[in-house]
Amino acid sequence: MLRRLHKDQPETFAFTPANQKWAEAQITKYPEGRQASAVIPLLWRAQEQEGWLTRPAMEHVAEMLGMAYIRVLEVATFYFMFQLQPVGSVAHIQICGTTSCMICGAEDLVAVCKEKIAKRPHEISEDGKLSWEEVECLGACSNAPMAQIGKDYYEDLTPQRFSEMLDQFRAGEVPVPGPQNGRFTSEPLGGATSLTAYAENRDHDQNASVALATEIGDTVKRIDGTEVPFKAPWQGAAEADPDPVTASRSTLLGPDGPDGPQGGRTPGQEPAPRDRGDASDGAANVRGSDAMPKGKPEQGAVADAPTGDTAPVKPETLSAPRESGADDLTRISGIGPKLAALCNRLGFYHFDQIAAWSAEEVAWVDQNLEGFKGRVTRDEWVKQAKILAEGGETEFSARHDRGEVD
Ligand code: FES
Repeated sequence: MLRRLHKDQPETFAFTPANQKWAEAQITKYPEGRQASAVIPLLWRAQEQEGWLTRPAMEHVAEMLGMAYIRVLEVATFYFMFQLQPVGSVAHIQICGTTSCMICGAEDLVAVCKEKIAKRPHEISEDGKLSWEEVECLGACSNAPMAQIGKDYYEDLTPQRFSEMLDQFRAGEVPVPGPQNGRFTSEPLGGATSLTAYAENRDHDQNASVALATEIGDTVKRIDGTEVPFKAPWQGAAEADPDPVTASRSTLLGPDGPDGPQGGRTPGQEPAPRDRGDASDGAANVRGSDAMPKGKPEQGAVADAPTGDTAPVKPETLSAPRESGADDLTRISGIGPKLAALCNRLGFYHFDQIAAWSAEEVAWVDQNLEGFKGRVTRDEWVKQAKILAEGGETEFSARHDRGEVD
């Protein structure tokens, strides 16, 4: 397929103020004279904002980076992740057509696209809401066949389920991403055959990426830059994130935080793009404004999560460890040496202290972990601490004790 500028282009492009601020900050990540290195993140943000990459957007990015227009066009036309033509107003569907997915039925999914969206890839459906294309391997081969829709993967698809999902998107609903056949991740359909202790003991019904997707709710949303608080820690401008959920999200996103290439979004934010019908009122396997209450994690995603109106209460603290010596808090998954030291400074030295925290006390600690807010809830410290306080071990503590954890 030829990748060239679309024949119909808008007159102008401008980042939203928040996206412009974000883009300007990205440029400062690179040494003087190397600002062009920011071209892909900036093009990506322009596409996240508009749905596709317009010529004025490329020119705007080129001017911001002091690049010749042709250089930016070369990048945009090289990478298939950049859409060079308008896409559906609700969602652009990317069907993986590479070997594993092809063997497992990708061609049937393409047939559904042709029937329910448009005959040819990159054509927009008559109602303007959907478009589709076939792409190369998306790296979820063990959950073939699969599709990327917006930012999320929908896996283990059948033509019937995929067809239902398209109806849901059209109706303004956002199907829950991840495996669509009941698998948790990519374990055998009949259940896990290894790491079974973890599988049996987990108390959440969504794998981590699905939980994040449902928590943040940005699957097909166009990004305007206000989804998460602006952060540019490399400029020394990091601000404490008042929201433990977004704080944990930024941590999960890695060193670039929510402003990294993957982007981060507001938890529970209405996932509707510009043209979405009414959200489902609670249909199974659907999230929308009703199915995903604002600011609340998906059920079961975080075991010890305090409710939104939990009044923080300071737990009892110790001025020093007991005579037996402090417990090694780094045996709790999510607590590294810095966080363990911070816990000690706050007066927490022992597993049984943490194990005894109530929801109100968890809320207090979550709020007082400077730089690590929300970690107690996110990493389920209380649950882990209960096991360790009773002399048991968790999968993480076992790996920790064998020296397999950095
Ligand atoms: S072959 Fe489809 S995700 Fe790899």
